[in-house]
Amino acid sequence: MRHKKPLTLLLCLLFVLALFISTPPSSAQRNVDIEKRVSALLARMTLEEKLGQLQQLDGQGDGNFRPEHVDMVRKGLLGSTLGVRNGGRPNQLQRIAVEQSRLKIPLLFGFDTIHGYRTIFPIPLAEAATWDPALAERSSSIAAKEAYAAGLRWTFAPMVDIARDPRWGRITEGAGEDPFLGAAFARARVRGFQGEDYSQPGKLLACAKHWVAYGAAEGGRDYNTTEMSEQTLRSIYFPPFKAAVDAGVGTFMSAFNALNGIPTSAHQFTLTKVLRDEWKFDGFVVSDYTAVQEMIAHGYAADGKDAARLSLNAGVDMEMVSRLFNQHGAALLQERKLTQATIDEAVRRILRIKFRLGLFEKPYVDESLEKTAYLTPESRAIARDIAGRSMVLLKNERDTLPLSKSIGSIAVIGPLADDKRSPLGWWSGDGKDDDTVTPLAGIKSKVSAQTKVTYAKGCDVLADDTSGFAEATAAARNSDVAIVVVGEPKEFAGEAASRASLDLPGRQMDLVKEVARVGKPTIVVLVNGRPPAIGWIVDNVPAILEAWMGGTESGNAIADILFGDVNPGGKLPVTFPRLTGQVPIYYNHLNTGRPPTTERYNSKYIDAPWTPQFPFGFGLSYTQFRISNVALSATQIRGDGSVRVTAEVENIGKRAGDEVVQVYIRDVAASIARPVKELKGFQRVELKPGEKRRLEFVLGPEHLGFYNQQMKFVVEPGEFRVMVGSNSQDVTEKTFVVQ
Ligand code: BGC
Repeated sequence: MRHKKPLTLLLCLLFVLALFISTPPSSAQRNVDIEKRVSALLARMTLEEKLGQLQQLDGQGDGNFRPEHVDMVRKGLLGSTLGVRNGGRPNQLQRIAVEQSRLKIPLLFGFDTIHGYRTIFPIPLAEAATWDPALAERSSSIAAKEAYAAGLRWTFAPMVDIARDPRWGRITEGAGEDPFLGAAFARARVRGFQGEDYSQPGKLLACAKHWVAYGAAEGGRDYNTTEMSEQTLRSIYFPPFKAAVDAGVGTFMSAFNALNGIPTSAHQFTLTKVLRDEWKFDGFVVSDYTAVQEMIAHGYAADGKDAARLSLNAGVDMEMVSRLFNQHGAALLQERKLTQATIDEAVRRILRIKFRLGLFEKPYVDESLEKTAYLTPESRAIARDIAGRSMVLLKNERDTLPLSKSIGSIAVIGPLADDKRSPLGWWSGDGKDDDTVTPLAGIKSKVSAQTKVTYAKGCDVLADDTSGFAEATAAARNSDVAIVVVGEPKEFAGEAASRASLDLPGRQMDLVKEVARVGKPTIVVLVNGRPPAIGWIVDNVPAILEAWMGGTESGNAIADILFGDVNPGGKLPVTFPRLTGQVPIYYNHLNTGRPPTTERYNSKYIDAPWTPQFPFGFGLSYTQFRISNVALSATQIRGDGSVRVTAEVENIGKRAGDEVVQVYIRDVAASIARPVKELKGFQRVELKPGEKRRLEFVLGPEHLGFYNQQMKFVVEPGEFRVMVGSNSQDVTEKTFVVQ
C-alpha cells in the first residue's frame, strides 16, 4: 500500500503535465498574455512610433503601395494600409516592417471586401432578401478566403447601417430597413469573415461600419447630417452594431455624418460611452476616409489640430488617410490637450488586435494561395445558389413564369440584358466584369437548342436615345415572350450615389411600355441596388422578378428562376414605395393619432396612396403556402417571462418551394409609443408539395422590451399583439398580456 502513493502522485503529475502540453491556452489566458505583450511593447515605443500605429494610408488603387510608404514603414510611422494587395505586395511591405523597423511591429492590410473579393456574390441588400443569414456567413467566408490569398487581413465590412430611405445609394451595402433582420445578418457576416478565430489562415478581421446612423442621412443624400433621438438610435440603429460586438467583431469604423450636430468621428457618446463603456468593446475604431479632417468642413473643428484633438479624445483610434493625429499629436500632448493615456489607449487597442490576429507570429501570407483561391467552381456554384435564393418574385399573373426551356422563341431586351458590369454592384473587390454571366448568357445556356433567342438592347441605361426601340419591339413581335432587363447601372448604387428619383433612369420605362404594348407575355427582370419606383410596370406587366445586382453568377441564377429550376423564395428586406415622394416609407413606423383612411383629415398624401408598392417581407413563389393554426403558449406572462408562438406552414401548391414565415409584435400602449409592427422572428423553410411543418418561435424579454424615457431597457405590462405571416401585411394576429 505504502508504495502506491508515490506512483499515484507521479501519474497525477504526468497527467497534469500532459494536459498542460496538449491544451492550448484558454482565450482568457491568451488575452492576459496579449495584454502583457502590448504593455511591454508600449513601454518601448517612442511617441512618434505610437502615433505611427494610429495611421492608415491608402495604396495606389491598383494594389500597389506608394513609394513614400516604404520609408514610413521603415521608421515605424505607418500602422496599416488600405487597398495594398495582390502579387505579394503586402508581404513586400511587411518585410520592411518586420525586418527593418526598430520595433518590428507588423502592418495590418485592409480593403473593402464587402460581398466578395474575386467571386462576387449578390449585393448585401440582396443577400438579406434570402432571409437566410447562414448564406451570408457562407459568402463572407469565401470572400475572406479569397481576400486572404491576396495578402489581406482586414475587411471594412460588414456595413450594418439601417437604411429607411432608398434614395441613399448605400442602402445597397446593408441589410435593409429592419434592426432584427439587420442584426441577424451582422452576426452572420462577422462570423463568416472572422470564423471562430481570425488569426487562422483564410480569415479576415471584420469591421462594423459606419458608426453610426450614417444611413439616416437627411434627404437620403450621402454624407448628410443625421438628427435623431437616443431612443431611435438605441432601438433602430444600434442593434446590428451590438450584434456585431456580441459576435466578436474586432474593429469599428466611425462614420462621415454628424449626429445631432456632432460628427460621428468625434462623438464621445457613441464612441466612448456606448461602445467602450456600455458594450465593453475592446477592439479599435478606424475613422472613415478623411472623416477626421472633414470635421473642419462640418464646422465642428477649427483646424486640423482641433480635429485630431476632438477625434482622439472621443475614441477614434486609427485615422484613415488624413494625417492629423500624426501631424498634431505631439503638440497636443505638449499643450495638455491630449493625454499620454489617451494615445496609449488607442495604440493598445490597435496592438491588441494585431496580436489577436497573430501578425507578430505570422506576418506573411502564403503567396502561392493566389494561384488557386480565386473563383473556384465551388465558389461560383455557391454564388449562383445564393443569387437564386436572393431573388424576389414580385408579380406572376396567370403563371407567366416559369417558362418552358423548349419555348419556340424569346426576345431578350434591355440595356442590362447583356451587361457584365452592373450585376457586380458597388464594392466589387477585385471582381472582373469579364467573369460575369449576363442574363442573356444565362438564358441562352438554359434553353433548348431549338429555341430562338433574339437580343435587342433597346436603349442605353442612362441616355435619352430611343432609336433602338424599333429593333426591340420587332424582336418582341417575332417572339413568343419578351424578357426585358432594366434597372440601374453599377454607379447608381453605392457610395455617393444618392438619387432624387427612384424611377428607372434614362428611357428604360418607355422601353418597357413599348415592348409591353406589342402584346406578347412580357417579363421584367430588375437589376438594381435599391427599391425602384415602377408603378406602371406593376400595373401593366404580368411578371416581375427582382434580381438585384446578383454578382458574378447572376445571369445563371436569373435563368434558373425564369425556367423553373429554382423556385424563387426571397422576400424584400426593405419596403418598395410606389413613388419617390412616399419615402421614407418603412413598415416599422410609429402610428399617428390619425392613421390613414379615405377620410380627408388623416395622415396621408392627397396625391398618392399611403400604402407601399410592395410591403417589407413580401415575395411570391411558383407554389402557394398556407400559414395556419397560429397559437400562443400563454395569454398572460410575467415581465421576465416568455411566450411560445407556434404556426403551421403548408405547401398547398404543386412545386417544392421556400416560404419565409415571419413573426411581428406590437406593444399596444407603452410609456413611449411603439412601432405598429416589429419583426421578432423568422424562418425560411423548404417544403415539398403537400408538406406541412410546425414552426416555433420564442418571444422573451429581449424581444418584448424597449428603451424607455430613461433609456432603460424595460418590458412594460400591457397588451401585446403577435402577428404571423408571409410578409409584414399578410398576417394572422393573436394577443397576450404582460402582467
Ligand atoms: C467608405 C467606407 C470605406 C472606405 C475605404 C469610404 O469612402 O465610406 O465604407 O470602407 O472608404 O475604402
